[in-house]
Amino acid sequence: DADPLKNRYSDSFPIGAAVEPEQLEGTHGDILKRHYNSIVAENVMKAENIQPEEGEFNFEEADKIVKFANENEMNLRFHNLIWHSQIPEWFFQDEEGNPMVDETDSEKREENKKLLLERLETHIKTIVERYKDDVDSWDVVNEVIADDASNDRGLRESKWYQITGTDYIRTAFETARQAAGEDAMLYINDYNTEEAPKRTYLYDLVKDMVEDGVPIDGVGHQSHIQIGWPSLEDTAKSINMFADLGLDNQITELDVSVYGYPPSGEWHSFDDIPESTLENQADHYDDLFDLYEELDNKISNVTFWGIADDHTWLDDRTEDPNGKDAPFVFDPDFNVKPAYWSIMDET
Ligand code: XIL
Repeated sequence: DADPLKNRYSDSFPIGAAVEPEQLEGTHGDILKRHYNSIVAENVMKAENIQPEEGEFNFEEADKIVKFANENEMNLRFHNLIWHSQIPEWFFQDEEGNPMVDETDSEKREENKKLLLERLETHIKTIVERYKDDVDSWDVVNEVIADDASNDRGLRESKWYQITGTDYIRTAFETARQAAGEDAMLYINDYNTEEAPKRTYLYDLVKDMVEDGVPIDGVGHQSHIQIGWPSLEDTAKSINMFADLGLDNQITELDVSVYGYPPSGEWHSFDDIPESTLENQADHYDDLFDLYEELDNKISNVTFWGIADDHTWLDDRTEDPNGKDAPFVFDPDFNVKPAYWSIMDET
């Protein structure tokens, strides 16, 4: 049997995987227990699953993951408390069921804002009170920065933002801190955190908030990346910038796509992917983990957004409807790939 990934990095950081509850059993469960010492829910802790209707919390699926983490003494990340996606519409509707974003009356807009922030507080408090003794790191807000600079601070113009401005971010962190306590680790999580200008927008927001006393402990770098992109320089620069602000960094959703954007391969099965591509991926992983190790006092967790290539959200994203991506270090049959050997330094 292949040596456990987690042992190779035990001096540096836990190695995590995103999971669905069904993956806690069978071969997935075995691989999880052998190679990983941190987990995060791929979907079941998101708002649409935890509070599908106002006041109706559903913890059944989330509990399975919490229980597994406890039984196997694994680190647990919570993903996520506040996001614009995978959240039910009722959050953003007033008492009459009208969309809050359409409101033009300024008094009514104030009332809506108050109502939405109350809902945010209830959502966060209820979850945090249930899991505060189990969770090691919380993704308090997810993806608050826009992809293009649609406003001068680069803030995503989500419904949260349209209705509350940046107050939702501040309130989310303050509520989480109050409910979870001083020792809880609270993160702002986003993708494409490596390159400017997005990196700069995130930095400026976080710096302002930290200076303003908002209880942010660290930055989660999703790290949905590709072979050869982003550069190691930009990756290091981003981690160092946030560390220099006194913040922790975590790599929260790592996958290294074998496709470029736009997708350059037309691979319908894992076996169609050229060996040279898997070798290039291994080289990328090698450099990346060398960097993570070099910066390990600034990075407290490295989590993959899946366990093995049989199950990856990237398969839903490739332009080719039948395209098979292969972003991890275990193949669809759970065999080790060149990328496994490279990050184990056994090439
Ligand atoms: C993805 C899941 O992997 C998919 O199963 C789901 O259909 C959509 O969401 N950024 C995030 C994650 O923060 O929550 C997303 O997860 C991937 C991108």
